[in-house]
Amino acid sequence: MSDSMQQLRAQCEECQNCPLGATRTNLVFGVGDPAAKVLFVGEGPGEQEDLQGEPFVGKSGQLLDRYLELIDRPRDGGGIYIANIVKCRPPHNRDPKPEESEQCLPWLRAQVRVLRPQIIVCLGRIAAQRLIDPDFRVTREHGVFREKGGILFMGTFHPAALLRNSAQKKDALADFQALRDKMEALGL
Ligand code: URA
Repeated sequence: MSDSMQQLRAQCEECQNCPLGATRTNLVFGVGDPAAKVLFVGEGPGEQEDLQGEPFVGKSGQLLDRYLELIDRPRDGGGIYIANIVKCRPPHNRDPKPEESEQCLPWLRAQVRVLRPQIIVCLGRIAAQRLIDPDFRVTREHGVFREKGGILFMGTFHPAALLRNSAQKKDALADFQALRDKMEALGL
């Protein structure tokens, strides 16, 4: 991790800006290459992530890893970074409350300032509605790149949704292939 990402993580470890700070086992700050130009953003940690302190390490994380490997961008060494909208686990895996996301977003914004990603991939509705468009509909708008403030944003299916509905896996794979093509086109 770069020095500034380390510093940010240390500050984030102290965060008690919302009630999730009191119930977490571990902060789930983010993982990946500090020089990454592609940032994946999920919703928030689940049970395994809370226990291990790393994003997407449970069942949905295993599926995410499969897609990343299919496009030759593995979590380790693939030039990517993975984070979440909220850094602490919402109890019983409920959706983060709007006020929790609001309190936590400055940490993600700070991560974006350190990384300066060229592409942000939103994994699922919660991230896409926060970062792309409050009306974002994954089934309708997945795989579409749109530029905002010099960054290309794309939303795709949350891996947990794919585990529930495997008919969407084909579309998700196409989104990851589109991402691979976009990275190649940008020389990333
Ligand atoms: N789901 C998410 O959105 N993020 C994680 O880190 C794990 C599961």
